[in-house]
Amino acid sequence: MVNRRNLILGVGGTLALMGAGAAWRVTRVPQKALQPWAQAGVTELDPRLDAFRHAILAPNPHNMQPWQIRLMGDDQAEISCDLARRLPHTDPFDRQIVIGFGCFVELASIAASRRGLKIEVDAFPEGAGEERLDARPVARLRFVAEPGLAADPLAGFIRDRRSAKVPFDLARPVPPESLAALQTTSSDLIRFDYSRSHNETEALISMASTAFEREMRTPHTLRESIDVLRVGASEIDANPDGISLRGPFFEALSVLGPDKVRDASNDPQSAETTRQIDRYRQIFAQTPRFVWLTGLGNSRAHQLAAGRSYLRLNLLTTRLGLGLHPVSQALQEYPEMAPLFAEARRLCRVETGETLQMLARLGYAAPVAPTPRWPLEAKLIRA
Ligand SMILES: Cc1cc2nc3c(=O)[nH]c(=O)nc-3n(C[C@H](O)[C@H](O)[C@H](O)COP(=O)(O)O)c2cc1C
Repeated sequence: MVNRRNLILGVGGTLALMGAGAAWRVTRVPQKALQPWAQAGVTELDPRLDAFRHAILAPNPHNMQPWQIRLMGDDQAEISCDLARRLPHTDPFDRQIVIGFGCFVELASIAASRRGLKIEVDAFPEGAGEERLDARPVARLRFVAEPGLAADPLAGFIRDRRSAKVPFDLARPVPPESLAALQTTSSDLIRFDYSRSHNETEALISMASTAFEREMRTPHTLRESIDVLRVGASEIDANPDGISLRGPFFEALSVLGPDKVRDASNDPQSAETTRQIDRYRQIFAQTPRFVWLTGLGNSRAHQLAAGRSYLRLNLLTTRLGLGLHPVSQALQEYPEMAPLFAEARRLCRVETGETLQMLARLGYAAPVAPTPRWPLEAKLIRA
């Protein structure tokens, strides 16, 4: 039988150990999870591997990294979607997942240009599911030598690119010449635009904050985020994807068990949910500009093109020393969000037949840490 004194000592001892553990862990940052950012700097013999070591650093919804890469022959690759890595509650038509693939393909192309290679993209070569993606490939890529091809000037900024989920400096407005430089992200399928006045920016801040709250207070969409929370360095290293919670506070909590943190966060009306909503309301309030990409349609080709434009936007802002932060809640196509979806379209001057593909905050920010990635090897499918 356990004697009461031993039990108390036991619990005390465990707590002391947990305390020591927490003290050790607060100094920890994920190790393995950040290695792919360094590995992208290593030159590979096979230029396709070089390109894909960069492509896996692409921004993508909830950092789910849904890509699967199959090398074919000497100069081709097929990219497909790991269908289990989609986010059906907030992205019921896989629109945002396809945007992430557009970012991936653009990064591969930019990286390949450094080796004098152009990537010919055959998008959805076997057709695409209109409502949902399916097992058919997202793209076939052919790497073609192009004599005299110059390296893309954005290639040098790939490893510094971030999604800046932080407050921006309201004392430093975005210079008009920077906004003009971003216009180059428009294409024949995509139109770049931005908030043109203080009033327009304020209206978007208010709309984005309400949309964020709507997502957090809606049980099934909150649950989708909670399911991919990774709490503390150990869990992030073991699962380098999803929404990672880092830093001393979460390291200490992770000692109690990540599942406890997830359970505590899963109530739309809890104090913790309200705290997160307030935190994001404050972040959104510190936004000097919004920028957005409107698709002139909403086909899979438009979504892929939106991703390619967004990636260039993100690299251009990196080059300009600006932070860029997507705020997608109001763009998402589920019933509870419908009124805010309509409001976002109105505020962003979206015409009938067009689709708001990306909306993002823009401004100057303090440096932001890179997010976790699975290594390329985890994404390669052996034929
Ligand atoms: C289509 C799309 C939508 C996104 N929406 C949001 C969003 O609403 N809020 C947010 O904080 N980040 C959003 N992101 C950014 C991702 O969370 C981010 O890319 C991912 O966590 C990886 O981080 P990184 O971009 O810093 O490498 C979005 C990214 C993409 C491609």
